[in-house]
Amino acid sequence: MTRSRFVCRLMFVLCCCAIAACVFAQGQQGSGEYKPVERQDGKDVVWLPTAQALVDKMLDMAKVTPQDYVIDLGSGDGRTVITAAKRGARALGVEYNPNMVALAKRNAEKEGVSDKAKFMQGDLFQTDFSQATVLTLFLLPEINYQLRPKILNMKPGTRIVSNTFDMSEWIADQTATIDDSSKCPEYCTALLWIVPAKVEGAWKLPQAELVIEQSFQTFSGRLNSGAEMLPIKNGRLNGDQISFTAGAAQYIGRVNGNSMQGMLKSGDRTAEWSAIRISKAASR
Ligand SMILES: C[S@@+](CC[C@H](N)C(=O)[O-])C[C@H]1O[C@@H](n2cnc3c(N)ncnc32)[C@H](O)[C@@H]1O
Repeated sequence: MTRSRFVCRLMFVLCCCAIAACVFAQGQQGSGEYKPVERQDGKDVVWLPTAQALVDKMLDMAKVTPQDYVIDLGSGDGRTVITAAKRGARALGVEYNPNMVALAKRNAEKEGVSDKAKFMQGDLFQTDFSQATVLTLFLLPEINYQLRPKILNMKPGTRIVSNTFDMSEWIADQTATIDDSSKCPEYCTALLWIVPAKVEGAWKLPQAELVIEQSFQTFSGRLNSGAEMLPIKNGRLNGDQISFTAGAAQYIGRVNGNSMQGMLKSGDRTAEWSAIRISKAASR
């Protein structure tokens, strides 16, 4: 073979290789967008998307408004964050898998809400979510349980909504299920908790002492007034709103750290009441 024929052949082979590489690269681009597979492994929990009907239900139960800051821990393809952003809320998804983060960002872009729907790659156990006014979860019961102390330290009134999984003995304030399998084939129950104010301890009222033993959003205890000791009944917290009965009197009020105040009703009589916490321990 002459030298020029060899060069020609070499050029031909190189051209073929270049064309093949281009075709391959184009094919990769066309079909190469990341497509997650249901139940694929995740760091602490697999990816399985919440049915859109249940996303809507969860955000309805949490009464999401444009004033809210919604955080979804383990945000997957971003649907909860995107739906919250469409309701005008600021929303953040925390997701360990970087491919899912990129996919969620693309989805937010397509839906025209990337100004309000943000996504970050991170581990939900290492992320500070304390600023959320609404926290959404589709994780596992044991993960909810591990997160529970941090959740109970969030601002009273923060709404927590979980797809299907509970918080052990912290019973949900509200539960709803979607029964239509065409809208939600599996994992169709939403649970809502409202972070209760912390009221455990001894409180001083002008004429009495109130001792409260708290269990999440409920409490019992006693109201000591002179020689009289009245058991507390129907003690309940809805965020920072408190209500209870002592004897014939029904108390309602608002808790603000170590003080609380409100109105009491006893028969025809209504009056204002207020209390200051003197100890965080119920038994002194
Ligand atoms: C069951 S999916 C829920 C996805 C989404 N929240 C929804 O409801 O459609 C759980 C998600 O959590 C992610 N995940 C698992 N462990 C995580 C961790 N330690 N930190 C952040 N995300 C995690 C998974 O990759 C998966 O996308």
